[in-house]
Amino acid sequence: MAATDEPWVGFRWREPMDQSTELEIDLVRSAEDIDLPAAAELTILAWGRLPTAGEIERRARRLQAEVTNLDGTRQAIFLASKAGRLVGFGKVVRDSTDPSHWWLVGLVVHPDRRRQGVGRALSRARIAHAQARGATIILSETHTDNEASIRYHAAIGFRNDGEFTAADGDRKVAFSLAVEPLVSGAERSEVHICGLHPRKVPGWAYFDAQVTACDCVRGAAIETLAPDDQQVARWFIDALAGCRRVIDIGCGSGFPGLYVARHVERLVGVDASPNTVRKARSHAARLRIPNARFEVGYAEVLRFPGDAFDGAMLCGLLESVDRESAGRLLLKAHRVLRPGARLAVLDQDWSDVMRTKPARSWRIEPCDQGLRLDVVERSACPPVERITSCLLRGDGPSSRRLAQIQPAKGVSDNAWAGALDTGDVLDAWYEEAAQFDASIMATVIASAGFRDVRIESKPIWGQQILLLTATADHPIDQKDKGHQWR
Ligand SMILES: C[S@@+](CC[C@H](N)C(=O)[O-])C[C@H]1O[C@@H](n2cnc3c(N)ncnc32)[C@H](O)[C@@H]1O
Repeated sequence: MAATDEPWVGFRWREPMDQSTELEIDLVRSAEDIDLPAAAELTILAWGRLPTAGEIERRARRLQAEVTNLDGTRQAIFLASKAGRLVGFGKVVRDSTDPSHWWLVGLVVHPDRRRQGVGRALSRARIAHAQARGATIILSETHTDNEASIRYHAAIGFRNDGEFTAADGDRKVAFSLAVEPLVSGAERSEVHICGLHPRKVPGWAYFDAQVTACDCVRGAAIETLAPDDQQVARWFIDALAGCRRVIDIGCGSGFPGLYVARHVERLVGVDASPNTVRKARSHAARLRIPNARFEVGYAEVLRFPGDAFDGAMLCGLLESVDRESAGRLLLKAHRVLRPGARLAVLDQDWSDVMRTKPARSWRIEPCDQGLRLDVVERSACPPVERITSCLLRGDGPSSRRLAQIQPAKGVSDNAWAGALDTGDVLDAWYEEAAQFDASIMATVIASAGFRDVRIESKPIWGQQILLLTATADHPIDQKDKGHQWR
């Protein structure tokens, strides 16, 4: 390929190419799979510049470093070619702390090959790669002025999570896409709790569909709340006394964050459910609380600079995720807090849930993969119905046990409960319920870098509720932080 140190002209990519040629997508397995100078040239062209030989060489060297040690478990590069010519490439990278989150990064498409499906094909391949390695959320971001990229993300199905300021000061738009992990039959466990998450349907999806389930916000004054809600709001206000900037992670529709906002300089609420965030914004406008801002986002991916807050509150978030995710999202919370910042957590006292066993019923429905068992758990206050689903595959002991007792497919009957209670199909549900007794929760919080963890268990909302406070320690090494949850 001819290249000089002068701006490059007559570049062969500019020649019209055969439109009928099929696009080929390949995975880079070693440095030999990729024509590094061609990829380097493509990158520079994609930036809208004509490459010089020196630039190509420098960029090729950087690419060379990226394609060593590519075993696909943490990152992968896909190439798109037509008639043997490279027309684009893109990377997919596993999040450094959360293996269920993967990022689409570094998409490069030749300027003459745009709007021809190259980017989409590369993204499909990258998403499938991440799914096959257990991804449940795909993340991406672009600059706010890159309208083409914003359109492209929408076309692929990404959700626009709103604008934010990146660490380098650039304004960007965040995107996320929930996907089902694709695991091979051999890897799939016999009782697989829910499609999206190895344990259960993501809590945010549930609250997104049932916004009113946790919508306690009433008037601006705390006295307008029901007595138990007042108690909770007051507890958070006291626990965060003296904090100026507070982040409310899993803010839902604004309770109790909006009541805390009255006592601090700034409150930022983050929730993965766009519908609850919409509701929180409308409550903030109705009650005229201008220092509260609400954003859509995953607790596991807080897009704020380190030390941005001196207080964090989590009200009912941990019960919506499993224990490992709880550890990971507390690490993220720790990262956005300055040393010495306060943490206030309210959550179910699961040991009490286990003792009292809330009202439950069962639904069994045939589905494509076999039978799906829904365990429906109802709590009276707040009036929440929570469903934990198990996929019962045809060939395992729990399905055989079901077959013995199953009168007919599609029956929805509490008579099942007696039979199922003794079976192994509910082990997973019990495991989930027992995930957060007080001492486990304290350990998870301490492992994320918090000290002085204090716990009390109080009767609120007709059940036992854990109230925890802690203080953010000095930053602990990110690598150590990550290791505890892998
Ligand atoms: C029990 S509700 C509590 C809402 C509010 N804090 C309250 O007390 O009324 C749990 C909230 O956590 C949110 N959530 C669950 N998983 C999340 C995640 N991974 N990232 C961000 N928010 C999440 C849900 O969307 C829901 O709004």
